[in-house]
Amino acid sequence: MLQDDVMMSRRALLTGAALAGTGVAVAGSLWHDRAAPEPQLLRIPDLIDLRGMGQSASLKVQRGTTSFFPGRESRTLGYNGSYLGPTLRVHSGDDVEVAVTNALGDDTTVHWHGLLVPAEVDGGPHQLIRPGTTWRPVLPVRQPAATLFYHSHVHDRTAEQVYTGLAGVLLVTDDEENLFGLPSEYGVDDLPLVLQDRQFEDGRLVIPNGMMTLMAGRRGDTMLVNGTVNPIARVPRQLVRLRFVNGSNARIFDLSFRDGRTFHWIASEGGLLELPVKLQSLSLAPGERAEVLVDFSDGRSVALQTAPDRNMPTMMRMVGGPRNFLRDLVDLDHERVLAFEPTETAGHRTKTTVPDRLVTRPNPDSSRAVRRRRFALNMGMGGMMAMMAGRGGMMEGGRGSGMAMAGINGRAFDMDRIDEKVRLGDFEIWEASGEMMAHPLHIHGVHFQVLSRGGAKPSVRDQGIRDTVLVKEPVELLVQFTQPATRAAFMYHCHILEHEDNGMMGQFTTD
Ligand code: C2O
Ligand code: CU
Ligand code: CU
Repeated sequence: MLQDDVMMSRRALLTGAALAGTGVAVAGSLWHDRAAPEPQLLRIPDLIDLRGMGQSASLKVQRGTTSFFPGRESRTLGYNGSYLGPTLRVHSGDDVEVAVTNALGDDTTVHWHGLLVPAEVDGGPHQLIRPGTTWRPVLPVRQPAATLFYHSHVHDRTAEQVYTGLAGVLLVTDDEENLFGLPSEYGVDDLPLVLQDRQFEDGRLVIPNGMMTLMAGRRGDTMLVNGTVNPIARVPRQLVRLRFVNGSNARIFDLSFRDGRTFHWIASEGGLLELPVKLQSLSLAPGERAEVLVDFSDGRSVALQTAPDRNMPTMMRMVGGPRNFLRDLVDLDHERVLAFEPTETAGHRTKTTVPDRLVTRPNPDSSRAVRRRRFALNMGMGGMMAMMAGRGGMMEGGRGSGMAMAGINGRAFDMDRIDEKVRLGDFEIWEASGEMMAHPLHIHGVHFQVLSRGGAKPSVRDQGIRDTVLVKEPVELLVQFTQPATRAAFMYHCHILEHEDNGMMGQFTTD
């Protein structure tokens, strides 16, 4: 505990000092020292199972106030609440309708990240929901059980809206996953965990700004899980399923348990793996999800922690000095994410062993690919220098701006330009690489598998069916296009949301 307090104050000091140096106002940044919050019970978002609701649900996008710290109100955004949203559970094979009413007074969209549905109901920047209106997409759910999420994807302001609270968990379930006896009692032994880092000043949520911040993506000095600061989860003394969703704007988590215990990774973005993978740590980039099984049957309390994140543009690492607040932020020790407190539960019956095998899926067959496309996620040195000088970068900008800070293949996102055209049903190899730092590439409307990384075999964490993958060294992805994009386009972009908003995004249609 003492160690935690020391760590907390060191962090507050570093952030305060460094932010001051970059011209960002930090009133009362030492507030944490005086009022580190008591552990709070982990919030579990309400569960809406659409099967029990006549296959429909409503989401109201609204403003609210949230007390992350006792007695300190933050202005936030949420779905049906003040921060984040309910968990929606849908069943594979069903058609569901979600009525999204925009009560923000500002444009928004709701994107179903990881859901394989036609582009016109995907909720990307083209499916704008104007203030005071309701959008009613019908979503055909045709994919294996998986942990997905939904979030704002409004053009230019995705990062701000998500940072302020517009995200929620979307669970797909099916009969297949029920064969394995996995823990599945929502909120009891099956926990949705939206992991976010957020910045607070005087206990109130603030949106960091400034060029350095936008280059690296917005980070924060405080960990939230489902919007809870310093959370503690009471779990039964048995095997528990954790569904991690990286809902941060830019932070890569590297999760492990403080006592070094192992756990089993059982599902990637696209659903269950073939075999559980025993791990001691798991990294999770923005937009990625992972399901794990953890054994709490020994009854010992334990904290989940995350290692420092050193992913930032190369130049920032070189700049150094007190102005480099990011370097200060990330050179800290492990940071606590969530404490678990196992408790006795009477009459709870869940199979307490990790299954030997999970699903069987066809191996990726790259010989089926009909073409190869290359994508360089750009954040060039020239662009960065220009940014620092207060001008745009070298990237050909969208929307006639001429310049942009980030792009793909040298071009910034343009709503009116279709970058790629693919054929519905085709397999293709998409080869992607990232400049200056690692970028989580996400492709809408598809599942893919990683064929290679840096010219070699993919890593352990690359396995499984995915929709988001971290790229720096070139990765080869085998992508299958199963969803039509004729009346609207699908996006592909970096899931560091500040990069996305600043141009690191493209769009494709199908014919
Ligand atoms: Cu989770 Cu296009 O985004
Ligand atoms: Cu998506
Ligand atoms: Cu990026």
